[in-house]
Amino acid sequence: MLAGDSVPGQTPLPDLSGLRNRSVRTMGELNALEAENIRRAVLRYLASRPSVRAAPFDEAWFRRLHRQMFGEVWTWAGEYRRHETNIGSAPHRIELAMHGLVEDLRAWHASGMGMIEQAARLHHRAVQVHPFPNGNGRWSRMLASVWMRRHGLAPFRWPEESIGGASVIRAGYLEALRAADAGDLQPLVRLHERHTAAQNAHGPVFRRGRELKRGGRESNPQPPA
Ligand SMILES: Nc1ncnc2c1ncn2[C@@H]1O[C@H](COP(=O)(O)OP(=O)(O)O)[C@@H](O)[C@H]1O
Ligand SMILES: [Mg+2]
Repeated sequence: MLAGDSVPGQTPLPDLSGLRNRSVRTMGELNALEAENIRRAVLRYLASRPSVRAAPFDEAWFRRLHRQMFGEVWTWAGEYRRHETNIGSAPHRIELAMHGLVEDLRAWHASGMGMIEQAARLHHRAVQVHPFPNGNGRWSRMLASVWMRRHGLAPFRWPEESIGGASVIRAGYLEALRAADAGDLQPLVRLHERHTAAQNAHGPVFRRGRELKRGGRESNPQPPA
């Protein structure tokens, strides 16, 4: 393990053999390298609205997104986990679970479910399966933001600094994920509502002149993908 305390809800790093940069000595250095890699993925997908071709939301792209976020730091980026972890699907079920998520996402969208609720469900299911050895939290939050951006909406703005470290924000976030695990999506939907970039900057543009119903439902601003 690298120097630095591990954080509750974080997958411990079981082995550092996949690290491309062998001079990394501390968790701080590792976090900085990963953040720089992720920044490039953020520019690619969130700076402007990505096309369907750029972000097709199929199973292969789910893996590609993880590779684009972590591939400069880890050799195994974009490859599914082959070992059991305390949360997440069994390794042999991961690919199937990802295909299932792709289908469910299309069905949620076609059903007229509000975009924020779709994004929250996508985020939760992705991180619940825990497909990769690490980076599942950051990847699943990114998925949710790219889904919004693909539909012409503002991405979520998570306080990545504090959500990745022990903090009150992280404690509330993990609590919302655990509620979602138990079948109650509402706390996680509300958390997404609170962390839309638009809420932060200009107020609730997602409401489009109508009150969100409980559960974050709203009209779909775009036709189904
Ligand atoms: N009970 C849980 N149910 C679903 N997801 C969880 C739960 N506990 C933790 N998580 C998620 O797992 C993430 C940690 O997984 P990890 O692969 O280390 O991601 P990262 O390295 O991006 O933080 C947390 O950020 C959180 O999103
Ligand atoms: Mg981690």
